[in-house]
Amino acid sequence: MTKQKTILRALAGETLPTPPIWMMRQAGRYLPEYRATRAQAGDFLKLCYNPDLAAEVTLQPIRRYGFDAAILFADILLLPQALGADLWFVTGEGPRLSTITTPNELAALKGVDDIQEHLAPIYETVRILRQELPDETTLIGFAGAPWTVATYMIAGRGTPDQGPAHALMRADVATFEGLLNLITKATIEYLSAQIDAGAEVVKLFDSWAGSLKGDAFDKYALAPAREIITALKARHPDTPIIAFPREAGDRYVGFAKATGADCVALDNSVSATWAAKNVQVDGCVQGNLASRHMVTGGQELVDETRAIVDAFAGGPHIFNLGHGITPDADPENVALMIETVRAGG
Ligand code: CP3
Repeated sequence: MTKQKTILRALAGETLPTPPIWMMRQAGRYLPEYRATRAQAGDFLKLCYNPDLAAEVTLQPIRRYGFDAAILFADILLLPQALGADLWFVTGEGPRLSTITTPNELAALKGVDDIQEHLAPIYETVRILRQELPDETTLIGFAGAPWTVATYMIAGRGTPDQGPAHALMRADVATFEGLLNLITKATIEYLSAQIDAGAEVVKLFDSWAGSLKGDAFDKYALAPAREIITALKARHPDTPIIAFPREAGDRYVGFAKATGADCVALDNSVSATWAAKNVQVDGCVQGNLASRHMVTGGQELVDETRAIVDAFAGGPHIFNLGHGITPDADPENVALMIETVRAGG
């Protein structure tokens, strides 16, 4: 039986003549209509917790461009907040959180059973989106992977090298692993509830997986992803899962098989020809145009887009950027990328 939605067909392993396309951070500051709705909400967090407005910004790039998937508008840091961490955003700088670095601070966080009330508005956004989205558009839910979420909870902010999280791993491995375990269990409940509310695919963002090497990668990137995916597959066997161990490099090889993910999302530090040979052999891949092309545009954008489509044409592929689109991107370049992908080879 053939599934209709192109993203679901690619995730089921089908090689399509034209890859379906969506874009990380497709609802974002490069769009004037996003900035207007965010101003109406008051600020970024109020937007995340307002189901009507969060659904509205999720729909904006679908209306403007006709992407094949919509991604729930929310943030990976809402889960730490549900666990009891303080969270706020400093304009122009990024997120700030109360830090977790001691056994007492870890013990003071909420249990897995006490997060759902806080997250209820997110599930309401998912329900609205399933009503409002066009029939052909797939709805993707998401969460941060435990390591990436832990790096923010330990440091209290984004860090260039995830130094505070690596330091806690060495200084107090019990607290570090206790935190990772709590996030893992909470993420299973969070994603499961998104699926119950109507998410058709879920994606696990491990933005800082690349800073884990060797054994640490296996223990803190691969094993938590496998635990989450195994638990979700037991409850929701038909829901495909995309894993994004960003900057994993040669550790992308075999990651889908080892974790049970249906698709691995690739960042643009790996070449598409290498990934076609070494990663796509195991199934669907997503990626991996450098997001700078959304700023610079021109023939280089067209050539690079075609090269990626061609490299992955022999197997299941979902076209995307290698990371989120940036606020300085030109909306016209997004249209040019989509046109190039859909023009075919
Ligand atoms: O992809 C999507 O459009 C879905 C929504 C989404 C957002 N954040 C909205 C957002 C998703 C999937 C995320 C994931 C996320 N959030 C990650 C993992 C993916 C990645 O990009 O590596 C991380 C590390 C975060 C944490 C976070 N949120 C940071 C570090 C920042 C500040 C950086 C910045 O771009 O300003 C955010 C804010 C954020 N999350 C914005 C959006 C649209 C910008 C907020 C604004 O409107 O001012």
